[in-house]
Amino acid sequence: MKPELLHVKDFASDAARWILACAVQSIATRGLFRLALAGGETPAAVYSEMARSSDAPDWSRVQITFGDERCVPPDDAQSNYLMARRSLLDHAPIPSGNIFRIAGEADPDHAALQCEAQLRAVATRMGEPCYRHDLVLLGLGPDGHTASLFPGSPALAESQRWLIPTIGPKPPPQRITMTYPLLNAARHVAFLVNDPKKQPVIDDILAHRGNHPAGAVQPTEGSLTWIIGPGK
Ligand code: 6PG
Repeated sequence: MKPELLHVKDFASDAARWILACAVQSIATRGLFRLALAGGETPAAVYSEMARSSDAPDWSRVQITFGDERCVPPDDAQSNYLMARRSLLDHAPIPSGNIFRIAGEADPDHAALQCEAQLRAVATRMGEPCYRHDLVLLGLGPDGHTASLFPGSPALAESQRWLIPTIGPKPPPQRITMTYPLLNAARHVAFLVNDPKKQPVIDDILAHRGNHPAGAVQPTEGSLTWIIGPGK
């Protein structure tokens, strides 16, 4: 399916509005909104806007997962969970049992297997072969990485597991990432990019040039949207 390009003026509020509309629609249709949060710095302002929006969904029907996590404790400044907690999770009444944190403080393989087991339990309850996110949010690195799927990484070839430990060039190096099987099972995927310096990478991906990891995110039976802001 051809990706949708959404060039927005006010990145944080426009992206937040788009995500919340997706949430409301998903809850109305399926009674649930399963959302994977992107890490890094870009999404924090979007999550803060989501938390304070008057267009809030029924947060009790929202499940939260994380596209990747750094192998650090949850109170470490580098933790994607901490960024999400400060910007969204501490401000939206999402049931704690609906937040599937990746235990960055634990042994990486154990943490990946533990989170995957939680998602498999939900998928089984829902009669799904694979946990199907309603929306996966992803960032984009200047080298074309997304989540913690970095160029040349063995993680790119993972075809069975949904989360695996990996090593990346972006500090901190030790991470846990969702893999393509889980990402591409999503109903919708949205890249959040708010840095004009990344536009050449987006252009490459849209033209199927280069071998960017982000370019292999292609939902099997879902849609793909690029939400592109003007930069800070
Ligand atoms: C991470 C992210 C990573 C991020 C991109 C963009 O843990 O670092 O998952 O994939 O989304 O590197 O990062 P910025 O938003 O900080 O530019």
